[in-house]
Amino acid sequence: MKLLLGIPGGIAAYKAADLARLLTREGHTVRCVLTEAGSRFITPLTLASLTGEPVFGANPALPEWRPSPTVEHIELARWADLVAIVPATADLLGKTANGLANDLLSTILLATKAPILWAPAMNTQMWAHPAVQGNVARLNGFGQAFIEPAEGLLACGEEGSGKLAEVEAIAEAIRALGALKLPAIQEKTVLVTAGPTREDLDPVRTLTNRSSGSMGVELARALRDAGAKVKLVLGGDLPAPHGVETVRVRSAEEMLRACQAWWPSCDGIFAAAAVADQRPERMAAEKVKKTEGPETLSLIRTPDILATLSASKHPGQWLVGFAAESEHHTDHAQAKLAKKGLDAVLVNDVQAGRGFGAVENTLTPITAEGPLAPLGPHPKDQLARAVVAWWAAQQH
Ligand code: CTP
Repeated sequence: MKLLLGIPGGIAAYKAADLARLLTREGHTVRCVLTEAGSRFITPLTLASLTGEPVFGANPALPEWRPSPTVEHIELARWADLVAIVPATADLLGKTANGLANDLLSTILLATKAPILWAPAMNTQMWAHPAVQGNVARLNGFGQAFIEPAEGLLACGEEGSGKLAEVEAIAEAIRALGALKLPAIQEKTVLVTAGPTREDLDPVRTLTNRSSGSMGVELARALRDAGAKVKLVLGGDLPAPHGVETVRVRSAEEMLRACQAWWPSCDGIFAAAAVADQRPERMAAEKVKKTEGPETLSLIRTPDILATLSASKHPGQWLVGFAAESEHHTDHAQAKLAKKGLDAVLVNDVQAGRGFGAVENTLTPITAEGPLAPLGPHPKDQLARAVVAWWAAQQH
């Protein structure tokens, strides 16, 4: 991605250097544009050294800066795949919302057709001021994106909203906004289940499985990046991806209820969760004490989430399930496809512990037509993107 990083004058400008370094290391081309005030907080030399790219600005007095802003604002506006403003100041928000442009960065912001992401950072009262909020609403109305400032202790000593969002969260928003959108996925609402479920025996003991939930979380991320509106029902402890509406659940019952609430408004589901098939018959209110003699745990079946959603699906809704198989992969997956009324099953070979926690993984899609070419082996983030691209291609 060709990212234009605009840095106006705010105390959080130094964090833009971290962001520039992070995204450059990921292989993106990052070009920074400093305003006059921005250059008082961070130097062009720092940014040029971190990005390996020239730094642009309107001050010809500094040798590392390119001298002619007159044509550059159009060139750079056309060059960028995405423009991010970090930290977004009240001044630049106000100028852009009102069509004012008196330096390189503000002219680029009016001239570019690329998506624009603002990461505001300012004093709590300034951020809350109706004039600033009005400008934010106006820019939102132009289709420009925002990553909300965080709460915390601000440089001015006040506590509240106005702190620049975490650098990783801004990077995540940039990746999402700058990713290639897939027309078959874009604007679709997709439900994703991820993670293990936990079935409690008593307040301190639980039955669960070895799934971390990373495949489902990566799928949610890849679907978001492809342009889908993603709703994630998440078990386990992994953090939810930025920009993905998430509800956290513990048990299979809770996961079912959360899915049922969202399912009618969804176009389809990827069910990547490792749902416990059984739960203890009774959950003891107090910690169970050990006793003499044989101890028996009585288990009952949990609801099958996919099968339940499949039974209530409306025309046009699709369901993709996962299957962890250690033998007779195709036969078992095809039986699951038919039994649960699915459109596809992605089979994960878990023989000898493969698949769980593995760095690289392979998934074989199976549809009514039989097994298709395997996806992978890839690391899970790349595998998730391959699954989404494969599913988008299936929609034609
Ligand atoms: N699944 C579900 N609800 C359950 C169990 C599984 O929605 N109670 C979903 C999983 O998210 C996955 C698919 O069903 O997408 C297959 O899960 P798996 O446990 O492999 O299949 P089972 O039908 O439980 O069959 P078996 O345990 O016999 O392999």
